[in-house]
Amino acid sequence: ITKIGVMTSGGDAPGMNAAIRAVVRTCAYHSIDCVGIYRGYQGMIEGDFKPMNARSVNNIVNKGGTILKSARSKEFRTKEGRKKAFDQLLDYGIDALVLIGGDGTFTGGLVFNEEYKFPIIGIPGTIDNDIYGTTFTLGYDTALNTVVEAIDKIRDTASSHDRLFFVEVMGRDAGDIALNAGVGAGAEEILIPEEDMGLERLLDSLKRSKKSGKASSIVVVAEGDKTGKNVFELAEYVEENLPDYEVRVSVLGHMQRGGSPSCYDRVLASRMGVKAVESLLDGKSNFMVGVKNDEIILTPLDKAVKGKSEIDQELLRVSDIMTT
Ligand code: F6P
Repeated sequence: ITKIGVMTSGGDAPGMNAAIRAVVRTCAYHSIDCVGIYRGYQGMIEGDFKPMNARSVNNIVNKGGTILKSARSKEFRTKEGRKKAFDQLLDYGIDALVLIGGDGTFTGGLVFNEEYKFPIIGIPGTIDNDIYGTTFTLGYDTALNTVVEAIDKIRDTASSHDRLFFVEVMGRDAGDIALNAGVGAGAEEILIPEEDMGLERLLDSLKRSKKSGKASSIVVVAEGDKTGKNVFELAEYVEENLPDYEVRVSVLGHMQRGGSPSCYDRVLASRMGVKAVESLLDGKSNFMVGVKNDEIILTPLDKAVKGKSEIDQELLRVSDIMTT
């Protein structure tokens, strides 16, 4: 391996820049060339490359987003698109890749590796924390802190007006943000994609809490929750069935993906970046770097893509007890 390409792809996440920095600096440390690939797989197809050295990544450890930009490429899903990407990499002398992203990014990498035997290592970067083979993905910790801070503010106004707030958080298929931020912010109920809580249970819980003297409440709803209603329909449904409640909705949206990464995400990104480059130099390929019991580990990339990351049942129980 003489020249490693690094790219970010899919939804951006705080800590991606810290990971890019770690990859670039580890390459410099081992006297290997490093190339930044802009705009994910689309940039790979178009040859949007820039050589990077230790100084190209000054002052980015604290920055949100990704300096390499991110995109979701339709063209890379075609055989022709992947052939173009391969030719561009060959032309530029890139002989291994570090892919920072989520499920979609790794699936693309696997297909590419199958076709061209191109050495790749993945780093999980997504706020959703929905990747098998790692307890934490990059950006998740920062997003949790962002969400908790936002809900704390909503709680202030909810309590002043004795209102019930439905707060929608990100997570199309994963309830990790909703569950952890919900427990951290003291939510009354938490609705997630992994468990069907049922609408009756929601009404019962709200009735109970009103009876017990609670005047305001927060319900955290993951984007992909199982009730079959979106957050506005849910609010309407509760207002119709429990007229005692004055209901408001707040959708936190993309602000959850931005902001300066937490210290945890920066450190994790640095550790993962070092491991990714050194794994490639050790001759490894088709693995994802992850963290388990605070140790940096490798998981076969196909397992990371196929495996299902489970919701924390113990935390679900804690959340139930906290709403007593
Ligand atoms: O995968 C990260 C994520 O932020 C999800 O939580 C969310 O559903 C999705 O990306 C939004 O994607 P986009 O920014 O393309 O609308």
